[in-house]
Amino acid sequence: MGRLEGKVAIVTGAGRGTGEKTARLFAREGGQVALADVREDAVRSLASELGAATMPLALDVGSEEAWQRGVAEVVERFGGVDVLVNNAALLHMSAIAETGVADFERLMRVNQLGPFLGIRSVLEPMKARGRGSIVNVASIDAMRGQTGIVAYASTKWAVRGITRVAALELGRFGIRVNTVCPEAGSPQMVQPYMPEGVDAATVLPHMQPNLRTQRKRTIDDLLQDVANMILFLASDESASCTGCDYLVEGGNLAGRIVKGAPGA
Ligand SMILES: NC(=O)c1ccc[n+]([C@@H]2O[C@H](COP(=O)([O-])OP(=O)(O)OC[C@H]3O[C@@H](n4cnc5c(N)ncnc54)[C@H](O)[C@@H]3O)[C@@H](O)[C@H]2O)c1
Repeated sequence: MGRLEGKVAIVTGAGRGTGEKTARLFAREGGQVALADVREDAVRSLASELGAATMPLALDVGSEEAWQRGVAEVVERFGGVDVLVNNAALLHMSAIAETGVADFERLMRVNQLGPFLGIRSVLEPMKARGRGSIVNVASIDAMRGQTGIVAYASTKWAVRGITRVAALELGRFGIRVNTVCPEAGSPQMVQPYMPEGVDAATVLPHMQPNLRTQRKRTIDDLLQDVANMILFLASDESASCTGCDYLVEGGNLAGRIVKGAPGA
């Protein structure tokens, strides 16, 4: 039996990166998967590769109307919804002084309003099933600060708040809600902010220095780690887990290794 056998999942931002990895894993584990993204071509070609247990879903997570239409399509095709992965997000990097209202609002709409609308839209189908698991993908940037990401970090911190409120409100319907906070993600998201000539795909695997063996691991390996955590939270294996943040960040928040000190 696959770990998602008999379950219907919606994965947002499934067109590439973490969402694509998660969707592929869900399909391998026997789930029926709606591949949601604003980039319709990407999810259409992924669905044709993965087969009839998947469906492409053109969906802007910041649109209430799109969620209503999208969830109705999934229920009609697969008969219900058991899992929602709120993964789609945008990054914007600039100093506070240079961050415009439009940039801030654009990120809020996708990264913060998006998961809220998603949760609200799957509520009735999940209640009808008497169960559900919602996984909100935040970031290590939802656990600490970093320069240059005021809009992104604040939306990601907000996701952890949404998770807690939703877990408390929806537990009575058998619906669990958790957050995954990865350090690694798709290089494509950060590439526009890399210094000229620097390839994000080669830099990102080196950003977990406390787990020193990870220096040999590829970005693909790191995305698989994130997808594995999302799968665990989506599946019944995590039946006791709700209202929490699950970090996949290579020990970055554990502290620092002091070179030359005992134990280093
Ligand atoms: N890239 C990183 O370094 C990193 C690190 C930690 C956490 N994350 C988080 O991981 C998650 C996945 O990001 P990724 O790294 O795969 O980035 P990505 O940019 O490769 O993928 C994001 C996907 O979301 C889609 N998307 C964007 N706006 C959308 C909208 N309005 N509606 C529907 N889909 C939309 C994009 O088309 C894209 O396919 C995000 O929540 C991100 O914040 C990323």
